Amino acid sequence: MSRSDRLTASLARVPLAQLPTPLEAAPRLSAELGGPPIWIKREDLSGLALGGNKPRQLEFLMAAALADGAQAVVTTAAVQSNFCRACAAAGAKLGIKVGLLLRGTGQEDLQGNYLLDKVLGAELRFTDTQDPYDPRIPLWLDEFVADFTLRGLKTQVLHLPGRTGTLGAAAMVCAGEEMARQFADRQLVPQAVFTAVGSGLTVAGLVLAFKALGLPTRVIGISVQRPASFIVPLIVERANAAAQLLGLAARVDANDFDIDDRHMGGGYGVPSQDAVGAILLGGRTEGLLFDPIYSGKALGGMVAQLREGCWSGSAPLVFFHSGGAPGLFANAAQLTQWLPK
Ligand SMILES: Cc1ncc(COP(=O)(O)O)c(C=O)c1O
Repeated sequence: MSRSDRLTASLARVPLAQLPTPLEAAPRLSAELGGPPIWIKREDLSGLALGGNKPRQLEFLMAAALADGAQAVVTTAAVQSNFCRACAAAGAKLGIKVGLLLRGTGQEDLQGNYLLDKVLGAELRFTDTQDPYDPRIPLWLDEFVADFTLRGLKTQVLHLPGRTGTLGAAAMVCAGEEMARQFADRQLVPQAVFTAVGSGLTVAGLVLAFKALGLPTRVIGISVQRPASFIVPLIVERANAAAQLLGLAARVDANDFDIDDRHMGGGYGVPSQDAVGAILLGGRTEGLLFDPIYSGKALGGMVAQLREGCWSGSAPLVFFHSGGAPGLFANAAQLTQWLPK
C-alpha cells in the first residue's frame, strides 16, 4: 500500500499485490493507430500468480475475511475465471482455504486459469449453469460453506452482491487514485481511460476515484458480457455503495462514464476476430499480452473507436490493462484460425 492512498485509507488491507503498477507509454502502438498518444496502465503486472485487476481487490477482500476470523473462503465464477485463480493464490499465500464453484463441467481442457486453480491448491466444484446471475448460485455457495463448516473451518462467501462487490469497487478506487498520481507526476491530463467490463467493478471504482479527485478524464468501459442497459445501473449502484463505504461525498451517475457494448462478439468467453486482431497488434507493436475474453476485446474496442475517428488531439488515451493472460493459453484452439501460419 502506498502512503498516498488517501481515498481508501479507512479500509483494512493485507499486502498481496505488487503496487503501484507501472504506467507506460506505448509509442509504437500509438504510431500504428495514428490518434492521440496511448499509455498503458500495467495492472496486468500486479503479481499474485499472473496479475490483473483482481490482486488489488483481494488485498481488501482478504483483509475483511481475516478480520472476521475466516479460515476459508468460497467464491464462484466461470471455469476460466481470473478472479478465482487470483483468489486461490491469495488463499495459498495467507493460509486460507479456498473453495471455487466454477461454471463448467470439470471436463474442460486443463489449461489457463483452471490449471492454475489446481496448482494453487483450491478445492473445486462445478455447476452446469453458465449464468453468473443464476438465482441458484447463492444456494450452492451455502452448501459449500456448510461442508467447510462441518470440517471445522470458519468460512466466508465472496460473491458480488453485497460486501464483496462494494469492497471490489473500493479497491479500484485505489487504482484510480494511483493513476491520478502517475498522471500528475508526468503532467498528463488524459482524455479517457479504456478498460474491459465484466461485473463493472473496475469502471465503478475508476469513475468514483476520478470524480472524487475532480479529474476530467472520461472512463470508457468496453463490455464483454452484458449490454449497457444491464450493466450501467449496476456500475452506478456499486460505485455509490463504495462511495458510502469510503465516506466520500462524491456520487456517480450514468452520465459520468460510457459503456460500449458493440464488442462482445459471440458472447462472454467466446473469442472474436477483432479481439484476436487487437491481441496481435499489441503483441507486435509493444510486446504486450492481452487475452481474448477481456483485455483483448477491450483493446479491440479502443482500436475501433480510434478508427471511427472518435478521438483526436494531443491529450493521451490510457488503456487500463486488466490482465487475463492465462486466457490466451486456454483459448489456443479457438485462436488458431486467426493466427498467422
Ligand atoms: C482480465 C480481466 N479483465 C477485466 C475484467 C472485468 O473487470 P470487472 O469485473 O471489474 O468489470 C475481469 C473480470 O473478471 C478480468 O478477469
